[in-house]
Amino acid sequence: MDRPEGSGDLPDPRDLPDGGPAAPPAPVEVDFLDEGKRVRARPGQSLLEVALEHDVHLDHACGGVCACSTCHVKVREGEALLSPAEEDEEDQLDEARDVSLHSRLACQARILEGARGRIAVEIPDWNVNLVREGSENP
Ligand code: FES
Repeated sequence: MDRPEGSGDLPDPRDLPDGGPAAPPAPVEVDFLDEGKRVRARPGQSLLEVALEHDVHLDHACGGVCACSTCHVKVREGEALLSPAEEDEEDQLDEARDVSLHSRLACQARILEGARGRIAVEIPDWNVNLVREGSENP
């Protein structure tokens, strides 16, 4: 008795994914205006982290712990996509030159969860290191 071989090459429907993976969050783009560079960023990243990840020069004398003002930037668009400034940041910004309503410390301004859109950042070329030498001395 001849019996044809079964057609076992088709996948079992029970092995298919259920609905597939969730769509990734929409990207946020950050324009570093002075560098002419537009890069993708992720929620939770600080503007300093975004800059360093993409080889955009931005001073950060204290290493990003809100203890200087060398990472001072001006956000020209997309401020609503960033975490609001806390009191420590505002205190440090008081030490920066040419502060405006759009000034932020790049190490403290983080992209909000669920943000989507464009953030435009200007890095002032006069940014100076205001860490006071000898500040530990009385
Ligand atoms: S790097 Fe020092 S305050 Fe941002």
